[in-house]
Amino acid sequence: MNSTIAISANTQKYLDLEEKYGAHNYHPLPVVLNRGEGVFLYDVDGKRYYDFLSGYSAVNQGHCHPKIVAALVEQAQKLTLTSRAFHNNLLGQYEKYITGYFGYDKVLPMNTGVEAVETAIKISRKWAYEVKGIEAGKAKIIVCDGNFHGRTINVISFSSDPAATNNFGPFVSGYVSIPHNDLHALEKALQDENVCAFLFEPIQGEAGVVVPDAGYYTGVRNLCLEYNVLMVADEIQSGLARTGKMLACDHENVRPDILILGKALSGGVLPVSAVLCDDEIMMTIKPGEHGSTYGGNPLACTVAMTALQVLKDENMSANAEAMGNLLRDELKKLNSPHISIVRGMGLLNAIVIKHTNPEAAWELCLLLKENGLLAKPTHGDKIRFAPPLVITKEQVMECVGIIERSLKQLA
Ligand SMILES: Cc1ncc(COP(=O)(O)O)c(C=O)c1O
Repeated sequence: MNSTIAISANTQKYLDLEEKYGAHNYHPLPVVLNRGEGVFLYDVDGKRYYDFLSGYSAVNQGHCHPKIVAALVEQAQKLTLTSRAFHNNLLGQYEKYITGYFGYDKVLPMNTGVEAVETAIKISRKWAYEVKGIEAGKAKIIVCDGNFHGRTINVISFSSDPAATNNFGPFVSGYVSIPHNDLHALEKALQDENVCAFLFEPIQGEAGVVVPDAGYYTGVRNLCLEYNVLMVADEIQSGLARTGKMLACDHENVRPDILILGKALSGGVLPVSAVLCDDEIMMTIKPGEHGSTYGGNPLACTVAMTALQVLKDENMSANAEAMGNLLRDELKKLNSPHISIVRGMGLLNAIVIKHTNPEAAWELCLLLKENGLLAKPTHGDKIRFAPPLVITKEQVMECVGIIERSLKQLA
């Protein structure tokens, strides 16, 4: 429903091309972007927007961060891909850097987020059979209802979202789903001795930024230790300074056994993901058992090192925490009848819309767009507010003004 906005002929031209020649597997807002800088995106008509999605948290460092782009361009002129059939001069350097950065023995580099999740699942199963001693073919992994870990057949096999699974079966077995943020349910599921891992999002992003109770990460850590089960944290969206700490698990000083990273690991310039764990787990994978043509390519290695360094050098965790607190406080102060909940951590936030029109969240996003801010509804009534972590106080206040104006315009 695009009832509230006019679309320029120039924009419509691009929309028509995608409509005609592209698969219809997304439902984007009718805006066509051709430039990004810091917290801003620009459309083909030259209009400027605040980006409140940040490429689903891939652009934590801000659009086209000059240091990340410079690293990309410089390396692209030297060497981009060797495959893992040969060594390249940057892979070892990157592996040393990222394992030191997060405090693990080893890293396995991949590209997209879901590939890293698949990798973590494969490593967990290897560990189940070769270290824990689970009978062949019996390993189980506990996951959470409402999860989002990506789109492959294996990963959607344990999704509870009908839109993700409808008519894609048959699915992969070996998963047990429990409610998110429920330590009792976790302990009950852990009674099964074939369980090898608990795979979870520390904050459920796609589900609408569902933050668990304080103490949950510690509880998960303790239970996984007690039952000799791997704690596998998918920090693809919650990690890399987004929530006000380098990792969401850092809020409770909890160290997962397997850490999954993606998205902002490249600052949004190319797909880079990684799985980190210690030798006892990682060394179960032998040559020829897993890999990817692009995983660990020199371009990705350089970009990832720079993207991680930028997060630290520019204190992005601290800014995410301060700006997140400000944003949530100011949104609550609006006292809008159309907002039932404001929640989040750092700059990973969502509002839940209260309205008689079931399309109200979409309509509000159209109004926000008209007023110069881009955000996208998730699961009907939730809108994520997750700007790049370089946003300033003045910019947050301007954005709150845009949100207030748009809420008032919502019929
Ligand atoms: C927590 C989480 N895991 C995995 C993924 C999948 O990442 P990708 O789309 O890069 O495959 C996402 C993407 O939104 C995510 O939020």
